[in-house]
Amino acid sequence: MITFRNIKKIYTGGMNTVALDDVTFEIAKGEFVSIVGHSGAGKSTLLKLITAEEKPTSGEIFFNGEDIIKLAPKQLPYHRRRIGTIFQDFKLLPKKTVYENVAFALEVSGCLNKEIEKSVPQILEIVGLSNKIESYPSEISGGEQQRTAIARALVHRPALIIADEPTGNLDPISAWGIIQLLLKINKLGTTVLLATHVKDIVNNIKRRVITLDQGRIIRDHSKGRYAI
Ligand SMILES: Nc1ncnc2c1ncn2[C@@H]1O[C@H](COP(=O)(O)OP(=O)(O)OP(=O)(O)O)[C@@H](O)[C@H]1O
Ligand SMILES: [Mg+2]
Repeated sequence: MITFRNIKKIYTGGMNTVALDDVTFEIAKGEFVSIVGHSGAGKSTLLKLITAEEKPTSGEIFFNGEDIIKLAPKQLPYHRRRIGTIFQDFKLLPKKTVYENVAFALEVSGCLNKEIEKSVPQILEIVGLSNKIESYPSEISGGEQQRTAIARALVHRPALIIADEPTGNLDPISAWGIIQLLLKINKLGTTVLLATHVKDIVNNIKRRVITLDQGRIIRDHSKGRYAI
């Protein structure tokens, strides 16, 4: 599904920072992959290259066989709808309810009301929020806010979910609940890519782990452990 070949990413500007250096890997459809590494190792940069928020300095990136570096700006919305993204801060709209936050993602892409009324409750059921649909973000817990964000990421039925430190603002128990939800979504057929610092989480997932160190892959193990 995803192929990186000899990817180098240098941020130019004040000073040149090599964020990724000769990064090569493949991720198959249906995998659950954790990306680990110290702060500044290049995890978020790697994820931003997949969503085409950033372009590599050199190398090739393919998504389902398509060279995403060559996508024209008008093709980017189509590319990004194939990917659901989740972040540490939930980025919910505070004046919209749980239901409205999820529905809004479909409204902006021109979905019919009938379709929205069918999809949103289904997705809120998957993430375990059927009893909170009328609540506002300020009225629910951090874990529930992240579940709302996950529901919003799922509305387009993406082939891939990218989660960049999704548990960064949560206590360990809520965090593990979010990871279990990502594992469930993966079981339902969605590929999941998770960037995290949290050793216990990675070791409990028991899936593939790619370890980055100063922009280079230093380890790539199926059933990996967190070892930096
Ligand atoms: N927009 C940017 N402009 C310049 N340098 C950047 C930019 N974004 C990231 N960097 C640099 O690139 C390197 C990799 O950053 P990146 O955000 O990918 O790391 P990370 O592994 O996600 O770190 P963290 O765990 O702190 O989130 C760092 O040295 C960082 O300072
Ligand atoms: Mg990061």
